[in-house]
Amino acid sequence: MRWAMDQIPYEEIDRERIAKDRFLFKNLVIASFIEITSDVYDRNLSEFFQGDDAVVEWLNNTWEPEELQHGRSLRRYIETVWPDFDWESSYERFRERYLPLCKIELLQETRAREMLARMVVETGTSTLYQAMSRYAHDLNEPVLEELATKISRDEVYHFEAFEEAFVRYKKEEKLSRSEIVKILYARLKEINNEDVNIAYEAIGEDENYEAFIQEVQGFAKKYYPYKMAIKMFMRPLGINQHAENIIASTLQPAFRILGI
Ligand SMILES: [Fe+2]
Ligand SMILES: [Fe+2]
Repeated sequence: MRWAMDQIPYEEIDRERIAKDRFLFKNLVIASFIEITSDVYDRNLSEFFQGDDAVVEWLNNTWEPEELQHGRSLRRYIETVWPDFDWESSYERFRERYLPLCKIELLQETRAREMLARMVVETGTSTLYQAMSRYAHDLNEPVLEELATKISRDEVYHFEAFEEAFVRYKKEEKLSRSEIVKILYARLKEINNEDVNIAYEAIGEDENYEAFIQEVQGFAKKYYPYKMAIKMFMRPLGINQHAENIIASTLQPAFRILGI
């Protein structure tokens, strides 16, 4: 692992400064729930990629421990700032509703397609933590800024590892560019979907989910790294840097309309 939880100076968090920030609280709880459930995904993915020893080894020895560390380090942050929150029982509620959705049959039909889906997920997480780091910077909360930056970097490494395997399987399966676009588009529509919704409900806040999503959109407008997102999103298409830059600037408004 590239970093360890004990490097995070939790004792230096200025709790007073952020304890009233319910938006931050909700975001961190949702992220911690989803991250810590990576064990289930690891099992499903390892089964799906059985026989590809390099991928399975990387999933079990790098990807899963890192994702779990994201979840645990966020949990510790939450419990430091909001000690009254019962993380455990809230997480139990989340797991109960979420696990039935994590079936292996729900993975993509082929390995190249699944790797592509994984790349979209890592694009989502790396950019989200980047936004969180910017938000923490504005709040003048350096501990969260550092933690979010570390997690965001890990997610970029994950993206790159999945990309390597994707390139390999894409050739094998002869996946065309138009098929890739179709899959990307379908995945894009699924972002901000069920897992976030279920995690949100499990927290048990009074405010309804739609109101929370509106808050997220306001946050995204200000902090979301759209350029980074679009560039990563287009990487599977394998187009050259120059064309990528042009398309990235045209796609930016579309991303905003989608509310991400
Ligand atoms: Fe993660
Ligand atoms: Fe990741």
